[in-house]
Amino acid sequence: MRAIGIDIGGTKIAGAVVDEFGAIVKHDRTPTIAAEPQVIEDSVVAMVQGLAEGEEIAAVGVAAAGFIDASQSVVYYAPNINWRNEPFREKLQERLGMHIIVENDANAAGWAEFRFGAGRLVSDMVMLTIGTGVGGAIVSGDRLFRGGFGAGAELGHMRVVPNGLPCGCGAHGCIEQYGSGRALLRLANELADAGGIGQVLASVRQRKGVLTGQDVSELVTIGDPGALSALRTLGTWIGQACSSLGAVLDPQLFVIGGGVAQAGDLLLDPIRQSFLESLPARGYHPEPAFAIAELVNDAGVVGAADLARQYAESI
Ligand code: BGC
Ligand code: NA
Ligand code: ZN
Repeated sequence: MRAIGIDIGGTKIAGAVVDEFGAIVKHDRTPTIAAEPQVIEDSVVAMVQGLAEGEEIAAVGVAAAGFIDASQSVVYYAPNINWRNEPFREKLQERLGMHIIVENDANAAGWAEFRFGAGRLVSDMVMLTIGTGVGGAIVSGDRLFRGGFGAGAELGHMRVVPNGLPCGCGAHGCIEQYGSGRALLRLANELADAGGIGQVLASVRQRKGVLTGQDVSELVTIGDPGALSALRTLGTWIGQACSSLGAVLDPQLFVIGGGVAQAGDLLLDPIRQSFLESLPARGYHPEPAFAIAELVNDAGVVGAADLARQYAESI
């Protein structure tokens, strides 16, 4: 049976009706106009109703960028959206009258890659999504890892710098502050301030008022040394985080997703290099592979729908 997946990101809400093979049969998309819970809830309800029209739907999976409880109902906390102990599932269930689960957005994306994308041939993989925040998913022994309270695999909030930059989660020094799309913009702005290889970044910034992620990725594509240097710095941080994750989880594969991953090898190369440089017991055990996510922007909705269908089958 078909299921609906909804993915609430920092800049857009995407939704789709997905079949049991992970194929999207119908989709919808709307910009996230405000990070306010009520506005987001209204958009999700409208989107689900629109998608469900004329369809037989087993369940709805909602992928949300935050710490989710073990019953997949409450968003404990979201660093980049105003959710604090938000009983999201209950609210949606009341308004929609359908089976609903709430899943962490990166978990949903990682699950989609494991089932239908870059990770379909491995049993153990780690995914990092590099977008507004840094999301994480762990598949270990063919199972999605959730932790004891549901909020495990919040890999973006691993501390990589003692008392480093403040993070939206309330802590300091999280990898999210060094390896996210927002961090890339900060690095690009720092280079623009410094002149030298940041000259082109500076002139684009001057012309447009602010630098956007789009600007930086366009400059990366045309080989601008400043933009490439910012991307390399980001990759170096992510690679170091991967070597620590490798020591804990021993995955066969790391999958890198999210908007910034569209840079492809320009991002993977510095990740691999810094991974190897910081790898414990290097040369004495098999090394994991690195891949860019295959489902790109669809991973969240496809994974959320698949997890929702599994849930519906289990009740
Ligand atoms: C949140 C995660 C989310 C990630 C990517 C982080 O700030 O804590 O829950 O998966 O951003 O959206
Ligand atoms: Na996660
Ligand atoms: Zn944090």
